[in-house]
Amino acid sequence: MDHRFAIAILAAGQGTRFRSQRAKVLHEAGGRTLIEHVVQTAAQLSPRDIFVIVGHQAEAVIAHLQERGFRRLKFIFQKERLGTGHALRSGRGPLANAAPQLLVLSGDTPLLTPQTLRKLIAAHRRSQAAATVLTAEMDDPTGYGRILRASGGTDGRSSNHSIIAIVEQKSATAEQRQIREVNSGIYCFQTQPLFRALQQVKLDPIKKEYYLTDVIALLAGRGLGVHAFRAEDPQEVIGINDRVELARVDNLLRLRKARELMRAGVTIQAPESVRIDAGVRVGPDTEIEPGAVLRGRTRIGTNCRIGAGCIVADSELADGVVLRPCCVLTESRIASGAVIGPFSHLRPGTEIGPGSQIGAFVEVKKSRIGRGVHAHHLAYLGDAVLGDGVNVGAGTITCNFDGTRKHQTVIEDGVFLGSGTELVAPLRVGRGAYVAAGSTITEEVPAHALALARARQVVKAGWAARRKAPSAAKPGR
Ligand code: UD1
Ligand code: CA
Repeated sequence: MDHRFAIAILAAGQGTRFRSQRAKVLHEAGGRTLIEHVVQTAAQLSPRDIFVIVGHQAEAVIAHLQERGFRRLKFIFQKERLGTGHALRSGRGPLANAAPQLLVLSGDTPLLTPQTLRKLIAAHRRSQAAATVLTAEMDDPTGYGRILRASGGTDGRSSNHSIIAIVEQKSATAEQRQIREVNSGIYCFQTQPLFRALQQVKLDPIKKEYYLTDVIALLAGRGLGVHAFRAEDPQEVIGINDRVELARVDNLLRLRKARELMRAGVTIQAPESVRIDAGVRVGPDTEIEPGAVLRGRTRIGTNCRIGAGCIVADSELADGVVLRPCCVLTESRIASGAVIGPFSHLRPGTEIGPGSQIGAFVEVKKSRIGRGVHAHHLAYLGDAVLGDGVNVGAGTITCNFDGTRKHQTVIEDGVFLGSGTELVAPLRVGRGAYVAAGSTITEEVPAHALALARARQVVKAGWAARRKAPSAAKPGR
């Protein structure tokens, strides 16, 4: 832990431009909420303390972060949302004495990396400035605060040139709006001068807010150094203010994740087409086909193949698993060598044993399937336990629901279920038994027996010809 600095994350705003019931920082990009990305990045810097300033939907934001397992956070409540300067000021008590330096982050800037922040902190310490602002050169700076330098220029030949002020988009002159160097909303401050300057920040007449950015001119005016540190990659400091920007950042985060996996030995076809959440893990030599979506806490082993268009959420695949195209898996576990799909639907609580094969239009729910089981076509297995080597014929259905309650079906090792079998649960089919095709089984089948449960076939010779003959009487039964 580095005792010299603490971190404050501004996350109290409503996010008006999102037009959402939910707080802005609780929206997701790259499979994590915006605030989660920022807190995760902050934690990697091992500061003395991490403060999160909450206000709008404070309870929901706090509950979310606690649920995600962030334990060491300290929360500050900003009662009224009167701007970024006001947000910090409302934390004056705990923040002013937390550490000699304060790193301020914004809850809506999820692409920021710990590497860039480490460089910012190092630059701040080298220069001993009162404040170091993380800036970036944007092709389109619209909406961001602009960096004003002593020369008034934007030449940026030196990356930690002194700056004299930050002017917000709404207050900028036409000339200032030409400036492409923007404020990222991320700063490293010397704590004491910051809080002295914050006391003097006045309400902005246009937005009726106390701007944190106004402390820059106050500090510079007092002759305390204010420096800019320019981010190498301007994309890292993109702030999200509406859902259009959210989608853009979501894409960038997913490309970043895909590249990370490819560098770690995963083959990804058409990486711009796949959607892999930040928390997903994939082993080397696995190949991911176009359009795959991997969500949440999904874990995939080595040498797997994830077919085109598969959607896998919160599931675990061991090594050498093949998902043929267009499978949907949720909260399922697949053992090594299993082959699933195409078009299989594995719902929560499904466990598939080693080497088993689940084929097209087979739906499995809350069921444990043994080793080497074949269920190749059109079946529903719900609340079932299948032993090893079971053959599930096409069209097999476990009738697990009686209209009120769910019941279990147990199918022991080596059972052969003929096609079109209905198994009315609760039910047990003993090991090695056979069930004839088209049977509706309602009673236990003993081990090694054959169960037949269908009406005997009736054949009426010549019936069709009699029906067609115009003079003949109507065919009777
Ligand atoms: C801010 C900066 C702008 C910068 C941009 C970078 C100010 C005045 N402007 O503008 O110079 O270019 O970020 O993205 O700071 N928040 C609170 N309490 C409040 C208001 C906001 O906690 O009362 C939080 C928000 O939740 C958000 C962050 O502060 O996470 C930034 O607020 P936002 O309204 O998005 O500021 P911008 O207009 O983007
Ligand atoms: Ca913003």
